[in-house]
Amino acid sequence: MLSESAPFAPTLAVLTVILFLLYKYVVHPALFSPLSRIPGAHWSTSLSPVWILWTRYKSMEIRTLHQKHHQLGPVIRLGPNDISVNCVKGGISTVYAGGFEKHAWYSNLFNNYGVPNMFSTCQGRPHSVRKRMMSNVYSKSYMHGSKAMIEITTELIYRRLLVRFEEYSSTGKDVDIYKVSSAITMDFVTAFLFGLASSSNLTMDDERRDWFLELYNSRRKYNFWPHELPNLTKIAKWACVPLVPKWVDGANATIESWTLEMCDGASKAVGQQPSSKIAPSSPDFPIVYAQLDSAIRDGRSKQDMDSDLALSPLQRLTIASEMLDQLAAGFDTSGITLTYAIHELSHHPHLQNLLRSSLTTLTPPITPLSTPSLPSPKALDALPLLHAILYETLRLHAAIPGAQPRITPGKPCILGTAANGGEYFDIPAGVRISAQAWSLHRNEEVFPQAEEWRVGRWLKWRDESGRAGEVVDVEMVGVGELRWLEVRNDVEMNRWFWAFGSGGRMCIGSNLAMYQMKSIMACLYGNFTTRIVDDEGIEQRDAYTAPPKGEKLIIRLEASAI
Ligand code: HEM
Ligand SMILES: *[C@@H]1O[C@H](CO)[C@@H](O)[C@H](O)[C@H]1NC(C)=O
Ligand SMILES: *[C@@H]1O[C@H](CO)[C@@H](O)[C@H](O)[C@H]1NC(C)=O
Ligand SMILES: *[C@@H]1O[C@H](CO)[C@@H](O)[C@H](O)[C@H]1NC(C)=O
Ligand SMILES: *[C@@H]1O[C@H](CO)[C@@H](O)[C@H](O)[C@H]1NC(C)=O
Repeated sequence: MLSESAPFAPTLAVLTVILFLLYKYVVHPALFSPLSRIPGAHWSTSLSPVWILWTRYKSMEIRTLHQKHHQLGPVIRLGPNDISVNCVKGGISTVYAGGFEKHAWYSNLFNNYGVPNMFSTCQGRPHSVRKRMMSNVYSKSYMHGSKAMIEITTELIYRRLLVRFEEYSSTGKDVDIYKVSSAITMDFVTAFLFGLASSSNLTMDDERRDWFLELYNSRRKYNFWPHELPNLTKIAKWACVPLVPKWVDGANATIESWTLEMCDGASKAVGQQPSSKIAPSSPDFPIVYAQLDSAIRDGRSKQDMDSDLALSPLQRLTIASEMLDQLAAGFDTSGITLTYAIHELSHHPHLQNLLRSSLTTLTPPITPLSTPSLPSPKALDALPLLHAILYETLRLHAAIPGAQPRITPGKPCILGTAANGGEYFDIPAGVRISAQAWSLHRNEEVFPQAEEWRVGRWLKWRDESGRAGEVVDVEMVGVGELRWLEVRNDVEMNRWFWAFGSGGRMCIGSNLAMYQMKSIMACLYGNFTTRIVDDEGIEQRDAYTAPPKGEKLIIRLEASAI
């Protein structure tokens, strides 16, 4: 008996284990999981994540998913535990407006100093506590009403940007406008965060600018390993097989200490020393820093306040982590958007003319001759053509065109719609799910001729007699008809427009972004024309944040003759 059953028991055990694994990892995901009804982007997606990992590794995720959605419909499966959606109803309105939490991907991507911040925090509650601390200073009414902001803008536009533009146009030299755009947006964002006195000065200081941008941009290639396979990356590093070159850590550390310097400058402005305290109406007042600093202090107990006037080291890094994230999110995306707006306008000289005419209606206009004062932010914001140019650029060249991964919640959810490719029920918890602006913005039913930059889709016209209509082609609009243009508020287009995301995790900086981009565009096209010298590599990278592949756009500026 004994001698017969002894070899049998282990065999049975091994067989059971094999059958169990086969069921759990092959049969269930392929046949019984509610996810198995979703069309797979590749035959292997129900069995293994290798295909999607490979696609991400090769920097082909955006265009591959775009093509797969085109073939297979608005809900597709990317891996055993990975879905992509490309629709509003049953798609982004369920996931993003529905408050699905961020995937851990964000904590791998955006933790600075090893301390979480608003962007990188995945859980809903701590995130919304943090976001509420700062959302009022990022509101449009704050932005348009802030005296400090007007002084900051006056300084940046008249004493930096216009000075450079005049130099470029009078010397006729080639200009890398991607660098110039990144520099001026960095100066804007850091002045808003830290106050002018503690902000960057990259617009004037080309050497410093090139140093920073090189440091920042050179890291982009190495995102795959730490972002998609953080644990493997850690183990490999520990085993001395680094998947990311060591200097990337060094670059990160340098950027972190550069930011910390600006933070420490700002902290003096809100500090306890009456002599160094700055009035909130001054351009040197650190608007966002002060707001977060006081919110974090209010969160402390009374006892802490008495015993310790300085921030704890962790609080100091918490604020710095937040500032670094906003500085990066704020300069990079706006710089990319401006680059594409300028690229498109350089191909459309008539639109440059129209825009310039529209800018001369501002009082005062922004020109080298006018006294250094600005039109009201509200008047600038209300120019329909400028607004349409930036919106169309944000649609066709979204600075964040890539997937924004979330995680499905505890309560099973429904994806898709019966009317459009089918509904998928009982999606379980813990599945990675995302949408990408690149594809949402290319829906032909909402944005006809979606691959074309057509500013007119965001406009309508209405003449004095009350007649109104669509603007089929802005190229046909004459200068005399400019005053008939209005922004077109189309519900469907607005629902599919996703450049700033949607829901509780939507961009906090969209008003700052529009404000700075409109100011910069007004400064440029109010007095100058642009034409392309070298736009090689202008296609966007296939990445979450997508600058031009060539990391440059060379143009020439000429003083415009009106
Ligand atoms: C054209 C300019 C901009 C674009 C296209 C843009 C786009 C976006 C998008 C798509 C998101 C959602 C990301 C996701 O969930 O994966 C986002 C979030 C965010 N953006 Fe922006 N952004 C711009 C400018 C700015 C500026 C100027 C700032 C601030 C200084 C900023 C700060 C943030 C922050 C902090 C978040 C995270 C919000 C949260 O998690 O609640 N962005 N942005
Ligand atoms: C460097 O910092 C960026 C932004 O915080 C992050 O995405 C990246 O993973 C970091 N790189 C390394 C090697 O830690
Ligand atoms: C910015 O840099 C330029 C050139 O380096 C310098 O002349 C100017 O004084 C600087 N401005 C500020 C506010 O630091
Ligand atoms: C990676 O490691 C962390 C702990 O460091 C763990 O919580 C997490 O589940 C791991 N992720 C994966 C995908 O295994
Ligand atoms: C700038 O524009 C104003 C009118 O808007 C014009 O009088 C002036 O000549 C222009 N200057 C340049 C350098 O184009």
